[in-house]
Amino acid sequence: MTPELKRALDILRQGGLVAFPTETVYGLGADASNPRAVARLYAVKGRPADHPVIVHFASAGQAFAWAREVPDAARRLAERFWPGPLTLILRRSKRAQDFVTGGQDTVGLRVPSHPIAQELLREFKGGVAAPSANRFGLVSPTTAAHVREDLGSDADLVLEGGPSEVGIESTIVDLSGERAVLLRPGAITKQQIEEIVEVTETTLAAPRHPGSLERHYAPRTPARLVPTHDLDKQISVMKDRVAVLAFSRPDERVDYWLRMPREPAAYAQRLYAALRELDSAGCEAILVEAPPDAPEWAAVRDRLRRACSGA
Ligand code: TXA
Ligand code: MG
Repeated sequence: MTPELKRALDILRQGGLVAFPTETVYGLGADASNPRAVARLYAVKGRPADHPVIVHFASAGQAFAWAREVPDAARRLAERFWPGPLTLILRRSKRAQDFVTGGQDTVGLRVPSHPIAQELLREFKGGVAAPSANRFGLVSPTTAAHVREDLGSDADLVLEGGPSEVGIESTIVDLSGERAVLLRPGAITKQQIEEIVEVTETTLAAPRHPGSLERHYAPRTPARLVPTHDLDKQISVMKDRVAVLAFSRPDERVDYWLRMPREPAAYAQRLYAALRELDSAGCEAILVEAPPDAPEWAAVRDRLRRACSGA
């Protein structure tokens, strides 16, 4: 065991906060069985107490001990996608107490695949409550440097694990009710989930699910989604200094331009770092070229729609 990992475990066991890499985004972890540790986690995040957190484990076996019922679909999804970027909402067992479930009768469970997360969870043995390691409402961190910028010394330790491979938060499937519901789209697509269980998508913003609040995952600079055919015209009418996120080559009239890949997984991987970069470019507005209206872009479109709402 490295000295870093040993320190991380000591901090978690003493009720402290450890930021750690996962394949989706960096998480801010606390012992999910320790009410004071989780209370501090909520305080640092600036997160309302009735918003549940996801509890992370090294294996499906450990995760399912926190559920009192594990439907067949959950086992099959776990078999197929864990460790990996999938969160399952199940009816909770006694181990999942009110302070991690926001008082709900369900719990969010995830088994991440990042080797450092895996090692940390394996050695810790228990569940680690971990929201994304950013302040509430802002863009999630995909590097250790992002975490330090956002949280400063509020995290007792930040484990370095390179840039997150997936880049956007896990797909969330709620299996606690009669029918499976896709609560948050992610790298694992609706189509992939449906190879195992039929899911309906939530359309209404459920208040218990912060990811479903509008203007979540948002930069501070007002951002706007623009269809490809309209991009040129929107640029020409802008009076302010503008930063652009687009598929095409830079336009010389624009102060700051970031070109994005035309492949959805590569786009997702870079998305949050790109939004942070545009946000700090000193412009008055951000224009984002809308990605294609195809199913494989659903998760990226979801995050962009939130990043651009309210501007
Ligand atoms: O990829 C991820 O899921 C990252 C990494 C760190 O694992 N975590 C993450 O956590 O995105 P957070 O807290 O930023 O978002 C968790 C989402 C929230 O929208 C929360 O409401 C939802 O999961 N959630 C957790 N438990 C739930 C439950 N019992 N019922 C409904 N939604 C739940
Ligand atoms: Mg978050």
